[in-house]
Amino acid sequence: MNIKELHQAALKAQSKSYAPYSKFYVGAAIIDEHGIIHVGCNIENASYPVGCCAEQSAVSQMIINGGQTIKHILIVGKSGEACSPCGACRQIIFEHGDELTQIHLQSSETQFSSHNISDLLPSAFDGSKLDK
Ligand code: THU
Repeated sequence: MNIKELHQAALKAQSKSYAPYSKFYVGAAIIDEHGIIHVGCNIENASYPVGCCAEQSAVSQMIINGGQTIKHILIVGKSGEACSPCGACRQIIFEHGDELTQIHLQSSETQFSSHNISDLLPSAFDGSKLDK
C-alpha cells in the first residue's frame, strides 16, 4: 500500500468537493481487495440532510466499480488535521470493510494515524446477524 499515492488521490477528490454550505471540503480514497483505488468527496445539498459524506461517495464508487472490501481508506479534511469519520460513515466502513481494514487520518500535513473500525465503532451493529 502506497500511502502517498492514496493521499494524492484523496486530495484530488477533495478538490471536487461540493460543499457550498459548510465550506468544509472532504476527500476520501479507498484501496479495495484488488488493489484498486476509488475516491469520493462530500456532496452537499440545500436540503441539508440530503448531503453525502466523502467516505460514502467513495464506497459507492468502489461498489459500482466491482470492489467489495475496503482494505484502506484515507480521509482528508482541513490540511494537517484529522477528519474523523462521522458515526454514519463508521457504520458504512464497518459494512464494507473487515477486521483488517485500516482507516488513515491526518496527524500532520504528511503523516497519518491508522485505526481499525473496531476502535472507531466498538460494538457495531452487524448486519450478518439479520435473517436473510
Ligand atoms: N463530512 C464528510 O464528508 N466526512 C466526514 O467524515 C465528516 C463530515 C462532510 C459532511 C458535510 O458536507 C461537511 O463535511 C461538514 O459536516
